[in-house]
Amino acid sequence: MKAHPIAKVGEIPPGGRKLVTVGRVQFGVFNVGGEFFAYRNICPHAGAPVCVGKISGTTLPSAVYEYDYGREGGILRCPWHGWEFDLRTGEHLVDPETKLKRIAVEIQGEALEKFPVTQSGDTLHVILPVSVVGEGP
Ligand code: FES
Repeated sequence: MKAHPIAKVGEIPPGGRKLVTVGRVQFGVFNVGGEFFAYRNICPHAGAPVCVGKISGTTLPSAVYEYDYGREGGILRCPWHGWEFDLRTGEHLVDPETKLKRIAVEIQGEALEKFPVTQSGDTLHVILPVSVVGEGP
């Protein structure tokens, strides 16, 4: 595992994102309420660049004919077919039992591939295994 500096903390405001490429990996870094999360820019459904999707909320569980909206800013909607993912966990909203481990880089079912983000001073780093990013600077 190697830490790669990818942004200054103030560069990504709450609700914002930044697309970053390290080696041969492109991913999105998201600021969700002051917490940073990074996901590989590949949708587990059909490979869309999911990290350019709309950041939104979603329809909450509610009674029949009622449409309660919530979780604003916590959902990433894939630009191709509209699958929704929780930005804090990477979980597909329809199948929350399918989860990714925060440290490992792996795909489990319909969740996004997630990378740990750390902060050192005013710089954000993403932790990527050499097997993903390759050798190099
Ligand atoms: S490719 Fe993302 S929902 Fe289909």
